Amino acid sequence: MSKRKVLVLNGPNLNLLGTREPQIYGAETLADVERRCHAAADGLGLEVEFRQSNAEHELIDWLHAGRHDVEGVVINPAAYTHTSVALADALSAIAKPVIEVHISNVHRREPFRHHSYVSGIADAVICGCGTDGYVFALQRMATILSQGGK
Ligand code: DQA
Repeated sequence: MSKRKVLVLNGPNLNLLGTREPQIYGAETLADVERRCHAAADGLGLEVEFRQSNAEHELIDWLHAGRHDVEGVVINPAAYTHTSVALADALSAIAKPVIEVHISNVHRREPFRHHSYVSGIADAVICGCGTDGYVFALQRMATILSQGGK
């Protein structure tokens, strides 16, 4: 049986993980997070397609492209969380289960980080768990998909 495919998307500046404000985001690089996601996915019977972009349109294009073969989306929209109606619209448009992840606890940070355009359409939101949040999101996604998805 083919594995269920989950798109793991990362927004702007997450390519700098490991060197970017490590006191907030930790020492792991995005490549480390990608390895952890693949390892977690293996144990859950999922296949992960892991991507990062600094460009809003590229994240949206990947969502559109994935709508026929991806069964769920785990997304750390980074700063676009707080600014992008277009990204939230794309997530709604493809009508797949969505889990929003933030490495930091955005609610303990500046007020502009407290609002998310994505949370209102997400099935779950995980924040403040560090990069473990990606693994938790994949675990939850496996449960959602085993229950039939959206
Ligand atoms: C972030 C939180 C956002 O507010 C910020 O813009 C990021 C990363 C996080 O993972 O904690 O770039 O999404």
